[in-house]
Amino acid sequence: MKVPRDRLIDRVKGVVFNINLVRASLTNDITNQHSPNLPTQECSMKSKDNFENRPARENYLVFGKPDLRREEIDEVIATLESGWIGTGPRVEKFEENFRSYVGARHAVAVSSCTAAMYLSFLELGIGAGDEVITSPFTFASTANVVIHAGATPIFVDIDRRTKNIDPAHIEQAITPNTKAILPIHYAGRPCDMDSILDIAKRHGLYVVEDAAHAIGAEYQGHKIGTLGDITAFSFYVTKNVVTGEGGMLTTQNAAYADNIRLKSMHGLSKSAWNRFSKTGNTRYEVVTPGFSYNMTDIQAALGLPQLARLESNLRRREAIWRAYDEAFQDLPVYLPAPVPSTIRHARHLYTLLIKCDLVDITREEVTIALAKENIGTGVNFISLHLQPYYRDMYHLSPGDFPNALFASERTLSLPLSSALSDGDVEDVIAALHRILSRVRLKNRIQTVD
Ligand SMILES: Cc1ncc(COP(=O)(O)O)c(C=O)c1O
Repeated sequence: MKVPRDRLIDRVKGVVFNINLVRASLTNDITNQHSPNLPTQECSMKSKDNFENRPARENYLVFGKPDLRREEIDEVIATLESGWIGTGPRVEKFEENFRSYVGARHAVAVSSCTAAMYLSFLELGIGAGDEVITSPFTFASTANVVIHAGATPIFVDIDRRTKNIDPAHIEQAITPNTKAILPIHYAGRPCDMDSILDIAKRHGLYVVEDAAHAIGAEYQGHKIGTLGDITAFSFYVTKNVVTGEGGMLTTQNAAYADNIRLKSMHGLSKSAWNRFSKTGNTRYEVVTPGFSYNMTDIQAALGLPQLARLESNLRRREAIWRAYDEAFQDLPVYLPAPVPSTIRHARHLYTLLIKCDLVDITREEVTIALAKENIGTGVNFISLHLQPYYRDMYHLSPGDFPNALFASERTLSLPLSSALSDGDVEDVIAALHRILSRVRLKNRIQTVD
């Protein structure tokens, strides 16, 4: 992607700054918790906010902009005009297309990834007295559902480079009460599934995967969604495929799929479509106390065209990712870890870690400065062990998970979506260069600007 001439000034400043002052002293090598060079304390130094008044762009670039086109609009209108907007033929088609894309035996569409994970734990009989090992560096719902199922989340630290659960810590956390491992494929990067599946097999544990970020990801030639006992995906508004709210679970086990589908629709023996369609029959039985966790045809209408375009969307995400990697390599940030050829990254979140222990700016200051430049950002995540509920309920201290703490204090997600134009990407690059080319090294060496 070409950067226009007028923006090159900002980029050149950044490069000069880095060549002269940072390159020699900073490394992009990010190692795990025991490195003495990587402090884990809160980044608190303030930078001088003397950015130029004119923002990098006129209008606000929203973080996680969905890629919705004419096909989605037409499909939603057709659904509205069809006379049936509830769970029906479009959901069935979406499930089938998703199942076939992933290569799983079964797919069940639900109202969210959270619902998918919750129903999975119920189906696997995981509840009171049981423990589920997971990563704290995740969204709230990953651990919330464990609690709703009646079980206890047991956190173990992440790998500092990949931000995924570190299998080396999983085995140490296993007790007689452990029933499952719940890995999160952070940002769309598959976890070390060989090690996780091996540990699960040796200890007789279930593996339920949180693949909210990982639609399209592959591990050693297998799509995520075909490896663990049950895998949960999200179609939340910022995801690679969006349906407003929505989720899907995949499994190789027919009984799991049937029971979960039943539970997602109030525990009725027949779905509403099977009762109200022309060939349906209105009689039904309540066979289990279920939930209202079903997906609607309006949601499926949004998802179907995006699923059909997913591969080309992933290629676009990959191109943006490469442009960011190239543009930011001399800035005081840790870039996302390179991806080995054995995995395919779903490129859901482009997350940098700001080297705020070495330069005079905090992550919060960078996000505020980017907002002033009209660039939206996300923070994925503030580790759950730092959140009031989890901290207090499980008596957790910040230092219990040094790598999750390290990432929490520095992580910053930039806009990444197949809906971004080249101009949008250039704006993000120019804005981050403008901001980070003016920070000072903490040892008070003057920057060039
Ligand atoms: C890692 C992770 N897990 C689970 C979820 C929950 O997904 P949903 O909103 O579809 O329930 C999210 C949502 O952003 C997430 O990032």
